[in-house]
Formats: sequence, C-alpha cells, structure tokens
Amino acid sequence: MTVTNELVSTYFKQTPAYKCWLNYDLIAKNDRLEEYKEICGDFNVLGDTLIYKSIKEELTVALHSMSHKEEVAESTFEDATLIISDSERVNLEDYGVEPSLFSSINEEGFLIKSFHNGERNTVLIIGKTDKGSLYGTYHFLRLLQGNESIEALHILNSPKNRVRMMNQWDNVDGSIERGYSGQSIFFENDQITSNLDRVKDYARLLASVGVNAISINNVNVWKVETHFITNRFINEIADIAGIFRAYGLKLFLSINFASPIELGDLQTADPLDKEVKNWWKEKAAEIYKVIPDFGGFVVKADSEHRPGPFSYDRNHADGANLLAEALESFGGIVVWRCFVYNCMQDWRDRKTDRAKAAYENFKPLDGKFHSNVILQVKNGPMDFQVREPVSPLFGALQQTNQVLEFQIAQEYLGQQKDLCFLVPMWKEVLDFDTYAKGEGSTVKKIVDGSLYDYQISGIAAVSNIGNDENWTGNTLAQANLYGYGRLIWDPDLTADEIAKEWVSLTFGNDDNVQEQVLSMLMDSWGIYENYTTPLGIGWMINPHHHYGPNVDGYEYSRWGTYHFADRDGLGVDRTIETGTGYTAQYFKENQEIYNSLSDCPDEFLLFFHHVPYTHVLKSGETVIQHYYNSHFKGVEQVKSLIEKWTSLEGKMEKQQFENVLNRLDMQLTNAKEWRDQVNTYFYRKSGIEDEKGRKIY
Ligand code: GCU
Repeated sequence: MTVTNELVSTYFKQTPAYKCWLNYDLIAKNDRLEEYKEICGDFNVLGDTLIYKSIKEELTVALHSMSHKEEVAESTFEDATLIISDSERVNLEDYGVEPSLFSSINEEGFLIKSFHNGERNTVLIIGKTDKGSLYGTYHFLRLLQGNESIEALHILNSPKNRVRMMNQWDNVDGSIERGYSGQSIFFENDQITSNLDRVKDYARLLASVGVNAISINNVNVWKVETHFITNRFINEIADIAGIFRAYGLKLFLSINFASPIELGDLQTADPLDKEVKNWWKEKAAEIYKVIPDFGGFVVKADSEHRPGPFSYDRNHADGANLLAEALESFGGIVVWRCFVYNCMQDWRDRKTDRAKAAYENFKPLDGKFHSNVILQVKNGPMDFQVREPVSPLFGALQQTNQVLEFQIAQEYLGQQKDLCFLVPMWKEVLDFDTYAKGEGSTVKKIVDGSLYDYQISGIAAVSNIGNDENWTGNTLAQANLYGYGRLIWDPDLTADEIAKEWVSLTFGNDDNVQEQVLSMLMDSWGIYENYTTPLGIGWMINPHHHYGPNVDGYEYSRWGTYHFADRDGLGVDRTIETGTGYTAQYFKENQEIYNSLSDCPDEFLLFFHHVPYTHVLKSGETVIQHYYNSHFKGVEQVKSLIEKWTSLEGKMEKQQFENVLNRLDMQLTNAKEWRDQVNTYFYRKSGIEDEKGRKIY
C-alpha cells in the first residue's frame, strides 16, 4: 500500500464523532466538486519542515475524502494548481502579490489567493512562516467544507492573540480533574500513553483552529506528576512534545512549587534561597536538553492547599521570578495562575470576600514580575460560574503580562450532559470595557497586548476532552472546543458565525439541520442559567461534584451559605458603603454601575447586592417571581431543545443523534431537579406564593 493509501484508509476507519469538524465529507454540490477538482487535483507543498509534512498529510487525506479520488498525490511545482509555501520560497510577484503585503501580518499569518494566468486557475496558500502555512491550509479546507467558491479568493489573516493555549487537567493515573468525557488521552496507570495516534489527532484538531500551546497535566501537581520533570518521564514527554511540534504547538508542564523538596534534593523550596535557584536552573537545563523548544511551566501556588511562596513569607513575584530566571536563557516562560485565595476563610463578617482575593494578592505586585512571566487570570473573580462579572484584574495589571483563563470543560455548567454553548459568554467577557485607559479599554485589547504593550499575552482555557469516542462526551460540546480556538484567533468573530461554521463542518450543509442546531446552541447558555442560578448569584450546586442543585451547598460551607438568603432576601452585598467593598476594585465607570442598586444590571444584581425578595427588577418582576418564572421556563426550554433535536432524526449518523438525545434526557432530569429544589427552598424561606399559582414542590 502506498503511503497515501495507508493514510487515507486509516482516516476512513474513523467515525464522524471522532473526526469532529475535520470530517471532510464528500462535496455534495456537483458544480463545486468540479471547481475544486480542477484546482485541488494537483497540489504542491514547498518546504520540508515537520510542519510542512503535516500539511501534506492533511491535504492528502482531506482532498481524497472530499472528492473521493482514487489517489491524491502531490504533483510538481510546475504542474500544481494549489501551491502551499511560505513567503520566502515563491516569487510572489509572479502571482501578482506585493511582498510588502506580508509586513501587515504577524509570524503566524497567511495569505490565500486565487490566481489566473490565462490558461488555468491556481490557488496559493502562503504563510509568513510554516505555521502560517499550516493555519492557511486549515482555513482553506474549511472553505471547501463550507462549499464556498475558491475562484476569487484574497484572504489575508493572522491571529489577534499571541498565546493561544490549552490547559489539560489530566492526572497520570488517567483521571481528569473536572473531566466529563472519559479518561486522559495522555496518561494511564501512572504511565504516559502508548496511543500516540490519538495525541496526534488531538494536535490536528487544535492546530486546525489555531491553538499554539498546550500544558498536558493538571495544575494540581500530585506526587507522581511531580516526577514529570525527571528522567523517569521526560523522554516520553519529549515524544509528545514532538507530536505537537509538528502541528505548531509548544508543550508546557504544570509543576509543583515544592519540587526541590518532594524530589528529595533539598530541605526547602524558598524562592530566595540560592540552592533552590540553582536547583531550578539545573532542572531547566535538563528539560531543554530533551525538549529544545519546551514552552515552560504552568504554576498553581498557594491555592487550595498547593504549596507556594507564602510558606516562606515570600510573595508571588518572588515565586514566579525564581522559575522565570531558570527558564529565561532557553526562551521559556512561566504561566503563573492568579487563582489564589484562602479557601478556609470565614466570611461571616460580611467583609471578607473570596471575590476580592486575586486582586488583593496581585495588584500590589504589578511591575515586579520578570518579562517572561505571564499571570493567568480566570475570567471572573470566583470560579467559572454561569454568570460572573469580569475579573477586576483585567486593566489593573498595567505592567505585567497577562493571559485570560476560560474553562471549556463545563464544570459548573452541566458537565457536558447539559447543553451549554460558551462562546456567547466568552464574547461578553472579551467585549467588556474595563475603562482602564478610558472608554474602549476592552478585555480583548488587554489580552491581545495592544492596550499596554505586553510582551507576551493571550488566552488559555481548561480543556473539555477525554478518550470518549467523540472527545467531549456530548457531541454538541465539540462546538465549545472549536469555538474557543476560532474566537481566540479572532475575538471579533461573532458567536453566531462561529456556531454556524461548526454546525456545517460537523453535520454538513442541510439548511434545516443548520437552523435547528444553531438555535439550540445559541439559546443554551441562557437556558442553563434560567433553571440554575439566575441574577448572578452562582453556586447552589452539589459541593465537590459540582453537578445538580444543592442550594446551601459549598465545599467550605462551615461558614454558611454563599447566597446569604434569609427570610427577607438574598444576595451578596459587595458595595463600598455597606458590603465587602469588592466594587472598589473596578475602574470608576464600572464601579459606579455595580455599586448602585438602581444601575446594576439585573443579571448581576445578586452578585453585587443583597435585596429583599420583593425588590423589583428592571424587567418589572420581583426577584422572587423572577426566580420562580425562570426556573419554570428553563425546564420548558429544555423540552423544546429535545423537540428540536428529535426533529433531526435520520439527518445524521445514528450514533451522533443518540448521543445528544441521551444527554438531553439527562439535562431534562437535571433541570427539573433544579427547578423543584430552588423554587421550594425560596418559597419556604420567603413564604411568598408564586403569583401564577403553579405548584411548587
Ligand atoms: C476549581 C476546581 C478545581 C481546580 C481549581 C483551579 O476550584 O473545582 O478542581 O483545581 O478550580 O482552577 O485550580
């Protein structure tokens, strides 16, 4: 069997669920197929790096699959009608391209251009570097899958964010912290996986949406994982790094701050200790010997019982800079997480507030971090709740590189049983105006580095994949993985555009399927919010497990509830005058809005204010009536999701259809439980009847 055939036959054995949006279905429209065959029948990839090898493979598989050609093989440059190259290797002027065009895009950007020379049509995919060519190839393949014409293309494109990272929370025993789609694809039984094909397919999926960095292990680094940076594991980890390298991704590792002690070498991990500094320098040198392009370390320190600089009376700049110095000469970076709070704190004084912790810990250190440190900040001040205001650290850190952290895994958002398309939520975060430098200081401008001129910045997210056949448990949760990559490449894309792309790449171009799935995705976040915790209060979820209702539940709940509900009202007073004072962490414009009961938007009301149940919202409903209404409504909305999905039976693979239907059934059970528990709880607490007289159990 030829290499081509082997590649293609492996690909054809994969199920649509596994292939996700790289399905490369046969092009259905005949005229398009002819157009594509004419241009794509003879391709030539100029370039011999590992990345170009990946491009050749991808094109071979994709073009074969979409056109059902017997054999797709590369042709000579002279005969080629599809040319993939970087800008150095072809004479751009021969194709009517001004070389200066490339000065307006960054290193990862590309140009896709159609060219007619009288005799034939040609398409050029020209990257600024080989990575640009890779992204350009995937972009081009998306156009084919969407059945778009390729006769008059002129697309100049490059990513807006420099760091586009994926954080796996995988443990070496194969479990995944907050994983809802099976076991790890990287580890099993305290070993590195032997199934490197699966890792390669993950690398393809990530590269196809432009992700360029990955940390492969959990931020909570336990005993065995602490050894990842030793001879016991590092060579096999280097093999994984090699797979990702071929798709333009740099590999990072989460490390244990107390490694010098836990690996048995030193008595201390004090960041200012000379021996500790040397230890990390030697460690970095060992790692770079086997992984020359190693990305660096991800660190969770002094948080939820993980070790950190506080044990030595040092601050987080001391901790991060210790590691930064060790990595600096190799070009490595330290991704230092700001999810630092005292999980055992007693908040009964109503002044102590977990939401204030990240800002209090990191704002005073602004400007004290080395240039190869990036602070990674969760989108909200708490912990990935269904609705949180944007963390006030965005805009507050003016001299410190920053990365925004999203969570694709639906930890608090239905765990990939319930449908929750997250791109609309992420869009709101990115478009939020912090007013840090006056109007227009949006989060997206902060993280893309343009507002403060950061050296390195961007976006990271907690992954939602595991070794389930369809990667994400619920097939519709693939849209979040896809959407994350597309959005951080270009935060100006709309949620709707991204959802449409995903639906068509995944389920094909049937109008009815597109319409139904699109509306399901776009409504889903609001639906989940309706039957869980509307008005910004959050939590009320089963402790530890984080699925299903438990109104008073909170893992550190010995200090009471997180919603402060009593017989008169609920919500957390975070105002300056009478509350925890959290609102003071925002710039004036936002501070005034959030601090004011009358100006605060309804969706955040209970995050910022404690109000009587009878408080009237901007919508005209009272708070209690809104709670009843939205919980009843949420359940009905889930029923309508089921109806929409059921109407699509027969329009897709049975396996895909049933997977989602099954999850929607679980969602309905969950939604009813939320409705009944939340409504009953607040009915009993408040003694206020539902004005519509519905039965509250
Ligand atoms: C949440 C999550 C933990 C995780 C932590 C983190 O609290 O429940 O499992 O370790 O976030 O982001 O570090």
